[in-house]
Amino acid sequence: MNRVAGLEGASTEPGELPGPRTVRGRVLGQLVVCEGCCCGQASKGHAPVPSTELKREWKERKLARAIHLTVSGCLGPCDVANVCAIVSRDGVTWIGGIKSAEPYRLLMDWAEASRAAGWLLPLPEALEGHRFARFDVVSILPDEPS
Ligand code: FES
Repeated sequence: MNRVAGLEGASTEPGELPGPRTVRGRVLGQLVVCEGCCCGQASKGHAPVPSTELKREWKERKLARAIHLTVSGCLGPCDVANVCAIVSRDGVTWIGGIKSAEPYRLLMDWAEASRAAGWLLPLPEALEGHRFARFDVVSILPDEPS
């Protein structure tokens, strides 16, 4: 028996996390748009993030149920501001170096096309130059003594 508030009566097996295992609707992914300490900050030489327009259009195009839009604080890789992350069951795709509103518009169009397709389409060719690897493959093992 689960003693977590709101989950009374729910049973969990040892090693399982309590709580619901499914979500309502079919969410394809999430677009996280950074507007943190660097992204969108003109004082640091970065283009504005059109977050108000993004949120408005996301709502007008009814994209939220298919792809969640989150405007976030710093995602970490400030050196490639402006940054977005696309999160899906396949992992995270990072986009950076956005210097105008156009890539954001492309992401909106891509999200709408993906919703219509029912799966996340490949990103537009024009965004390929913005993709970057957030984490390099590095060894975390200590050097072997020589
Ligand atoms: S402020 Fe966007 S990555 Fe840090």
